[in-house]
Amino acid sequence: MTQDYVIEMRDITKRFGEFVANDQINLNVKKGEIHALLGENGAGKSTLMNMLAGLLEPTSGEIIINGKSVTIESPSKAAQLGIGMVHQHFMLVDAFTVTENIILGSETTNVAGMIDLKKATAEITEISKKYGLEVNPTAKVADISVGAQQRVEILKTLYRGADLLIFDEPTAVLTPDEIAELLKIMKVLVSEGKSIILITHKLDEIRAVADRVTVIRRGKSIETVEVAGATNDDLAEWMVGRSVSFKTEKIASNPKEVILSIENLVVNENRGIPAVKNLSLDVRAGEIVGIAGIDGNGQSELIQSITGLRKVKSGKITIKGEDVTHYSPRKITELSVGHVPEDRHRDGMILDMTVAENFALQTYYKEPISKNGILNYSKINEKARQLMEEFDVRGAGELIPGKSLSGGNQQKAVIAREIDRDPDLLIVSQPTRGLDVGAIEYIRKRLIAERDKGKAVLVVSFELDEILDVSDRIAVIHDGSIHGIVLPAETTKQELGKLMAGDHLK
Ligand SMILES: Nc1ncnc2c1ncn2[C@@H]1O[C@H](COP(=O)(O)OP(=O)(O)O)[C@@H](O)[C@H]1O
Ligand SMILES: [Mg+2]
Repeated sequence: MTQDYVIEMRDITKRFGEFVANDQINLNVKKGEIHALLGENGAGKSTLMNMLAGLLEPTSGEIIINGKSVTIESPSKAAQLGIGMVHQHFMLVDAFTVTENIILGSETTNVAGMIDLKKATAEITEISKKYGLEVNPTAKVADISVGAQQRVEILKTLYRGADLLIFDEPTAVLTPDEIAELLKIMKVLVSEGKSIILITHKLDEIRAVADRVTVIRRGKSIETVEVAGATNDDLAEWMVGRSVSFKTEKIASNPKEVILSIENLVVNENRGIPAVKNLSLDVRAGEIVGIAGIDGNGQSELIQSITGLRKVKSGKITIKGEDVTHYSPRKITELSVGHVPEDRHRDGMILDMTVAENFALQTYYKEPISKNGILNYSKINEKARQLMEEFDVRGAGELIPGKSLSGGNQQKAVIAREIDRDPDLLIVSQPTRGLDVGAIEYIRKRLIAERDKGKAVLVVSFELDEILDVSDRIAVIHDGSIHGIVLPAETTKQELGKLMAGDHLK
């Protein structure tokens, strides 16, 4: 019954060269439903949706709208057909106002041929009221929060008359409050007759808002079901292709000598105000110390100072007995320290370099990767192929740019590069932010494996479940200092929450 669907994708295949990103995928969306598209990183979700948004054309297959076969050769064609997409990375112009961004490309002009800002603003205000999308039309995009920028993206699609809205992992960049807000907005949208495709790998979000879910795995559609009729275990298994455990198995730790020692550390943030305040902490060989805390309590500055990326104001950092307080990043790396930074795009990779070159970023100046200043590309590429295999980094080979890997595969690549150097101290910030259950399980296991090899591991994460899952000891950071050290088996989320909010241990 074609008429029941606002959109049908039939046997859609998309190739990038030899690589098949979508392999005869079927997806259909009913009017007024929230349809979740679930799949691991790199499964082919964005690729599939980009074909609806007019950014990619299918290699084969058919897209049917209201019973008619269509070709969506451009974003403006997609808009004409009533399709709007809110991308994972926003496509807004920072220097423009909210209104200017919304109307960009579909400006209404008045009789004099001038852009009619007044009319546009009135229209935007009306749409934003109707759907509960709060924005300040005259604010510059550079000055508004990430959540507000996302609302601008949504308004942009509605302004163009979208009936089907596609959200590509919309909650990855949001705070818990903003997530709740967005899920509410989605419900308003469908109650007003819109239809939604929601890409996510967060099972609780699917459960909170979606009516049906289509699971894809490695480019193939696996199942489409009513959400209420499937368990989380089912969904995870379809997504990953095997059963997934939400709790990582591990043996008791066997901590040895102190590898990292931090004494009375003070570190300023960019404006010159102390962000780390008199912080002391030890991490031993053979243990994972997890730092729990709310974003912005000095975690970033702490990690940057340990890795040499930020100057220390006072106090002392020692690694394997050596005072490294004022060492350069390179000198610290050479002391056998691995670092997986919180922002993999900014600090973890060079996105325009190939995946292979990214693997060589820490070793390019050394034999056998280079000799007498000349890079040995066959060695670089060979090493990359080996690491991609070993760490399950999926993508179209080692010669594509780093930016073509999906987020989870980028993260696995950074972790592969850092672990492969066999560091005595491994520092990992937000190890699994934005990743799917399969990649999360894999990464946590690798961290525990490093611990079991006798390495010292320091993990910073905003996810309490993650901290509780991997840590042997949990250090709670609040306002730049450690408010308590607790053992995962002897604490609860509530207790951690209190410490994170500023309570001290009795
Ligand atoms: N333009 C491209 N060229 C080559 N490979 C690509 C391109 N875009 C995506 N891919 C590959 O296709 C696969 C699916 O990617 P994507 O659709 O972004 O996955 P998802 O959104 O499910 O994480 C990945 O392996 C990715 O590296
Ligand atoms: Mg994607």
